[in-house]
Amino acid sequence: MKVEKNASLLHHNTFGIEVVAETLIEYDSENELEQLLASDNCRSKSLLPVGAGSNLLFLSDFDGIVLHGTIRFIETVTENDDYLLLKVGAGTIWDDFVAFCVQNNYYGAENLSHIPGETGAAAVQNIGAYGAEVKDIIHEVHTIEIETGKKQTFAQEACRYAYRQSIFKRELKGQYIVVAVTFRLEKKEKYNPNYRQSETHVGQPGQPTLQAVRDAVIDIRRRKLPDPAVEKNAGSFFINPVVLKKQFDQLVQHYPDMPHYHVSDNEEKLSAAWLIDRCGWKGKQLGKVAVHNKQPLVIVNKGGASGVEIAAFAKQIQSSVEAKFGILLQPEVDYIAGESKQK
Ligand code: EPU
Repeated sequence: MKVEKNASLLHHNTFGIEVVAETLIEYDSENELEQLLASDNCRSKSLLPVGAGSNLLFLSDFDGIVLHGTIRFIETVTENDDYLLLKVGAGTIWDDFVAFCVQNNYYGAENLSHIPGETGAAAVQNIGAYGAEVKDIIHEVHTIEIETGKKQTFAQEACRYAYRQSIFKRELKGQYIVVAVTFRLEKKEKYNPNYRQSETHVGQPGQPTLQAVRDAVIDIRRRKLPDPAVEKNAGSFFINPVVLKKQFDQLVQHYPDMPHYHVSDNEEKLSAAWLIDRCGWKGKQLGKVAVHNKQPLVIVNKGGASGVEIAAFAKQIQSSVEAKFGILLQPEVDYIAGESKQK
């Protein structure tokens, strides 16, 4: 276990924001986490469990304990001719797990290649890309309850997954720490039903292979999205808005080229990138903050921006999209202010 007082969080958030945590603790096993949660120190302070910080916006220093797990393993739980269940430590780098699946010819994770972050956070956020969502391959999520220190496993259905949503982001926010996730991967060839329509298949002659799909996804992401190691960002800043059919019908009359995705009889999902683009934000920079010039859904810290500056910039985007389209974009990144509301 590693304990650091007055710890810089610069390398714990991909926005590259220079804030300090009163304490930063790294644990590397479930047992260590259980001990930590039972300690007086943890019981009396605000706790903020983090993954790789690829979805966080720190608005100030954190006056409490930031907890980061480095529980990393991939083990087979059960296997038959058709599929296998793999249990993966929450601190495992997400893309290492995807690469492992592709190398071993396990189907299901390949469209989610190259997404930054760790496996536990992926299960909390229900990460998604190119027609796939991580919920589609999650079997169960293993957690520890912060208040009691008890282990609890959530079956996939109990996680209440929806587009970029889970029970851990809503009803149970701040109450559980994910320690491992069990995934179901297919052993028989089974590509994501959406891959043929998606760009992931463009330019690939003949039958796809898992590696070819992974390579195509990585190539698209490299072309469209900024590399957080070079340009500080947290991926999509906003969630694609889901609007009622009635509102959609009105909008589409004015903007017939507006991209949209069917959600249900009553709802359509719109493209936040398109809405932001149409408000003239693409590539725009104000002070130290900018909208990425290839993907307007991504906000970039051009160097030394504070979380407050980034939040103010995001607010301006929200206001102009709301004024033009009547839609209030919701941030997908988690704003962290001072103390988390965990306790
Ligand atoms: N668009 C524009 N202008 C642009 C770029 C895009 O108008 O400059 C419009 C286009 O019409 C395009 C549409 O936006 O068809 C959608 O763009 P894209 O395919 O890049 O997907 P997205 O909806 O903007 C979502 C995820 C991404 C994921 C991609 C690919 C969310 C919040 N974001 O973005 O996830 O990589 O789909 O499937 O759902 C992330 O979460 O950090 C992330 C990058």
